[in-house]
Amino acid sequence: MKKSFRIYVTRKIPDAGLELLKERGYSLIVHDSETPPTKEELARELKDCDGLICLLSDSIDRELIGSARRLKVIANYAVGFNNIDVDFATKRKIFVTNTPDILTPATADLTWALILAVSKRIVEADAFVRSGRFKGWQPELFLGYDVTGKTLGIVGAGRIGQAVARRAKGFEMNILYVSNSPKEQFEAETGAKRVELEELLKTSDFVSIHCPLTQKTFHLLDGTRLRLMKHGAILINTARGPVVDETALVDALKSGRLAGAGLDVYENEPQIHPELPTMKNVVLLPHIGSATTETRNEMARMAAKNVISVLEKGKAVNPVNSPC
Ligand code: GLV
Ligand code: GLV
Repeated sequence: MKKSFRIYVTRKIPDAGLELLKERGYSLIVHDSETPPTKEELARELKDCDGLICLLSDSIDRELIGSARRLKVIANYAVGFNNIDVDFATKRKIFVTNTPDILTPATADLTWALILAVSKRIVEADAFVRSGRFKGWQPELFLGYDVTGKTLGIVGAGRIGQAVARRAKGFEMNILYVSNSPKEQFEAETGAKRVELEELLKTSDFVSIHCPLTQKTFHLLDGTRLRLMKHGAILINTARGPVVDETALVDALKSGRLAGAGLDVYENEPQIHPELPTMKNVVLLPHIGSATTETRNEMARMAAKNVISVLEKGKAVNPVNSPC
């Protein structure tokens, strides 16, 4: 008789993915709530599970992995996987997988929504009209900043960073990037130039963060580096909050050094530095980089396919480790 696998899903993800698992006769335990399961709940449920589908807001640490004796696969419903102790999972021969590529266009588009929203003061202007204050065209009403022809600095030229830069070509921007290795094809395609972080910060009008969160990138943009930024520059972060020292960012905005910021992620999500929501020159989004119906459905399918592939074939479709 075919063995029935047991999968814990830490939140209700789109049916597109859950159906794939059900079709194969898997039993699913879905934590259908707006808040994450507690650590105790996760530990209790994982004891009998073969697979886990989790979110970036679930901390899958050493202790949890160590106590999940049947677990074979941790499928993160995200491209970033800083929430999982991957090294320890590898030691325990557990596959860790993510959802790369499919969310690149959605996240790059959202990055552009922030670049334009901050520089054109879209959120403030919309609130102005809604509150009945629009009394007619005025020469100096809501003056923003030009984007076309400016310099865009990409911190981390992976898939998403490159996709943001490709879109910038339509705005005739000069593109600088920071990356561990040169990206020749990317340079040929976009004219992007690889520079040191310091130079990028000093010369970019827009700085957009696209690196993963690791020990090396924690507070990569600290007070000292933020002070290097060009006067009047705009910072965009759709990657991970802790890459930026949020308190130092608030100071840089208050001092007027930065003209604005567009943030989809925060240092201590879901908490936000209390001064950020009081500032008119920032646009704040609730971590929705990949939030389109198409993308989230595809991410759900991808997470499910990874679980199925590991449990039935002993290999992952989108592995982030090599446990065997
Ligand atoms: C979202 O932040 C992701 O990593 O997919
Ligand atoms: C995301 O994972 C990227 O490669 O940019």
